[in-house]
This record gives sequence, structure tokens and C-alpha cells, in this order.
Amino acid sequence: MRERITSGKPQAQDRTVDADLRPKRLSEYIGQERLKENLRIFLEAAKGRGEPLDHVLFYGPPGLGKTTLAYIIANEMGTNLKITSGPAIERPGDLASILTNMSKGDVLFIDEIHRLGKAVEEVLYPAMEDFALDIIIGKGPSARSVRLKLPRFTVVGATTRLALMTSPLRGRFGVVYRLDFYDLAAMEQIVTRSAAILGVRLSPEGAREIARRSRGTPRVANRLLRRVRDFADVRAQGEITLDVAREALSLLDVDDLGLDEVDRRVIRTIIEKFGGGPVGLDTIAASISEEPDTIMDVYEPYLLQLGFLERTSRGRVATRRAYEHLGIPYPADTVQQPGLF
Ligand code: ADE
Repeated sequence: MRERITSGKPQAQDRTVDADLRPKRLSEYIGQERLKENLRIFLEAAKGRGEPLDHVLFYGPPGLGKTTLAYIIANEMGTNLKITSGPAIERPGDLASILTNMSKGDVLFIDEIHRLGKAVEEVLYPAMEDFALDIIIGKGPSARSVRLKLPRFTVVGATTRLALMTSPLRGRFGVVYRLDFYDLAAMEQIVTRSAAILGVRLSPEGAREIARRSRGTPRVANRLLRRVRDFADVRAQGEITLDVAREALSLLDVDDLGLDEVDRRVIRTIIEKFGGGPVGLDTIAASISEEPDTIMDVYEPYLLQLGFLERTSRGRVATRRAYEHLGIPYPADTVQQPGLF
């Protein structure tokens, strides 16, 4: 199977490397300046009062650092981090066992929190609000509910789909932060920092090229850096210069704007099969054999950001810029001129 360069969670081999590249303190974290400033105050205030942090929710496209921020929060608070995810907590009992193993001030990171089931969410509400676990003992008419006190802890939730979260769950987070794509300067710093940690020789122009083609996403940048390093090791005595970066990235099918084959298939399909749109997401997904959720979470945000796609009430539309990028004439420009007779 083709390796996906731009999407998805890290593969096993890359996960350990990702852990090494992950900043551990807020001061090492590059970019997301407003979020950092807010978080810094919020952490300092909680520490000053000797209280656990209020629950925090991060949302935004994948690969922008939601998990990293959960690690940083636990680190800065000097507490333990427990990691789970919406789909991993199948039954209320699973959540109850996680919660009863928490210590005061611990951070519970719930990734993909929008995928929690209803019954599990209902256990989470009193746990987050009152630090209490309501347990039902017995069955039928003699069943009764016992309230168990939990230590005060912090939930850090992460989601790529804020809109799919129920409003009672959203309402239980004291702070909600949106993560945005990183600008080029921040991406360059991230690539340069990662290269230093990995011991990779990288010229400033090489760093800029990788940064520019990483779609504003640190996870993509770190992955491309590793692949370009492989190329440099085999073909260029280990040094990543501008030319080496360009050659390696073109071999990886990552184009000038950082789009990969799937991105290009999404826009090409809208243009060539559906006349530029509007066309529904499910139809696009079926045409290119991808999951609608993957297109929506992974591919679409960056295409929207580039201004290649527009979302309308009737579906997705490819813009003039998308046509231009693929070198396809924009229909409005090719309308027949009236004849001269
Ligand atoms: N690695 C991944 N994301 C990062 C970030 N925001 N700052 C520094 N290093 C990173």
C-alpha cells in the first residue's frame, strides 16, 4: 500500500520519533501564539491557586498539535497524563474504571471526543461537573444509585469536528481553543527544530521548501522531513539542500503547494466528473473510493484554506484557483464568443 504522506495518525515506527520531536514545555511550542498566551495565563492562575486546571477542549484539523498540548498541560501542571479516545471507551464501565484510577490533578486526554457514545457521555457529565460517579447498584425495582466522589481532575478533549459534539458536553469545558494551520515562519522553525533533534543537516533553503509544502501542519512537516532525509542519505550524502528537498518531494508526489495525490484527485474529480460542482461530499468520496469522514477531516480543510474549494448548501464547488493549479481551463474563460455574421 502507498504510504500516505499528508494524512492520518503516525504509523508505529514514526510514533516514537514523533514523541521525541514533541515539545514538552509551552516555551518550546512554536506557533499558535494567541492560544499559547491564553494557556500560559490559565496554567499560571491554576498553579497559583493550587487547583487543577479547568477542562480544556481543542478543536481543528488533524496534525496541528492537540495531543502535544495535552502533554504540555500535564507537564506544566506537574501531573500525570492518561490518554484515551472516544471510540476506545465503549461502555460506561470502561470510563468508570478510568475515572476511579485518576489521582488529584491528573489530566485525562480524550481524543476524538465527538465519537463518545451517549451512555458514556452521561457518565462523563457528573464526572466533569461535580467530580462524581453515579453507579447503579442492582436491577429492576430495587436498583439504586450510589454517588462516588472522584478526585478533582482535568479533561483535555480534542476533536476535528466541533459541530458533532453535543452541546451539553461542549458546555462542560471551561475553555475551548481552535487550532489553526501554522504560518510559513512557524513551519520553518518547526522543521529546523526537528532537524536539529534528529541530527539532520538541513540548509535554511531546504527547511523553507519542506515548510512551504507541509500544508501548515507540523505532523506533515515532520513526516516529510524524515522522508526527505532518507532521500538525502541515499542520494546526497545526507545533506538536505533546496535541490535535494525539491527532488525528494517531487518523488513523493507532493506538489508545489503541498498537495498530494488524494488532494488532487478530489479537485480533479469535482472538475472532470461533476462539471466543477456543486457536488455532495458522499458522491465525491464514492468516486475516489475514500471515506467521506477522511475527506472532510483531512483533505478538505486545507483545500478550503487554499481557496480551491467552496462549500455551498448544494455541495462542494471547485474554484478558479483549483482549475488553474491543475492547468485546466476555467469554463467561464472558454465560453464561445458570439460569431461575427
Ligand atoms: N512539533 C510539532 N508541533 C510543534 C510545535 N507546535 N512546536 C514545536 N515543535 C513541534
